[in-house]
Amino acid sequence: MLIGKPKALPYSLVTSKADYLNRRRFLSTVLAGGTAAAIGGRLAVPEAYAQSGRKLSGLTKSPFSTTEKMNSFEDITTYNNYYEFGTGKDEPAVYAKNFKTTPWTVSLEGEVTQPKTLDMDAIMKLAPLEERIYRHRCVEGWSIVVPWIGFSLSALLKQVVPTAKAKYISFETYFDTKQMPKWRSAGIQLPYVEGLRMDEAMHPLTLLGVGLYGQVLPNQNGAPLRLVVPWKYGFKSIKSIVKIKFVEKQPPTTWNIAISNEYGFYSNVNPKVDHPRWTQAKERRLGEVFRRDTLMFNGYDQVASLYAGMDLKKNY
Ligand code: MTE
Repeated sequence: MLIGKPKALPYSLVTSKADYLNRRRFLSTVLAGGTAAAIGGRLAVPEAYAQSGRKLSGLTKSPFSTTEKMNSFEDITTYNNYYEFGTGKDEPAVYAKNFKTTPWTVSLEGEVTQPKTLDMDAIMKLAPLEERIYRHRCVEGWSIVVPWIGFSLSALLKQVVPTAKAKYISFETYFDTKQMPKWRSAGIQLPYVEGLRMDEAMHPLTLLGVGLYGQVLPNQNGAPLRLVVPWKYGFKSIKSIVKIKFVEKQPPTTWNIAISNEYGFYSNVNPKVDHPRWTQAKERRLGEVFRRDTLMFNGYDQVASLYAGMDLKKNY
């Protein structure tokens, strides 16, 4: 979903697989040598990326988990979209290295009887931590299987009482030009914002992610907390959230602001509705050679009833 400012770049300009693999090879060479260096204009590698996380214990297993093979920690933490830290897939692992995620607070505001601000300690105590292994499908055509850690977002939303006007929830990512060195070249309006309809936000599958692979979220994956909405394209899963607002009207969302005819509000994974510039019928699981068929709602059929009677071609 790499775009220019303000005109969209063709999909072919998104990092090619060969380029990506070259960079990966470079990363592993450097890591094997135990050094971080910039060679020939390539990126310096943070030594910490594989060990940044504190371990999270006492996890319960989630019945929502897939039994599909998980992608490796390396795949999940070095092939990222986090435009505030660079548009290259390997850049967030590098440029988010020093992102400060403590202290951290999240505000619950808008159409609620009493707004509230919670810090991470309070949030971590809201519900038992679960390991949920979800399929994650990016709008660009790749997919990944991630053992997330967290709990249903509803546990956080229930900390406030919505007014009768509250119909949608809008989410906002932290934004700091000093800490996000690549923000100027992101090509999207920042802070990053996303939104869900109230019933989508309250659905038990909608995860508030605080970790993966048994440890706190690496910065490049959205530390200290992010959404994971597994039946929607990855861009709905907003990272490093600081503000959650209950609102009456459908809120603006970053990629819809950027290119409205390509990225709708709903963005449900739907093999029958192609992106204007490429098919959505197939996907490439990271690490696999052959493309596989993409499933409606990314295979999470239990959400189908949320959209009963809606034209999902119109509401893409
Ligand atoms: N959140 C913020 N703040 N900034 C971003 O650029 N990228 C989105 C989403 N959340 C993004 C974001 C996109 S396009 C995807 S596919 C997922 O994060 C990627 O999550 P991952 O890097 O953990 O796989």
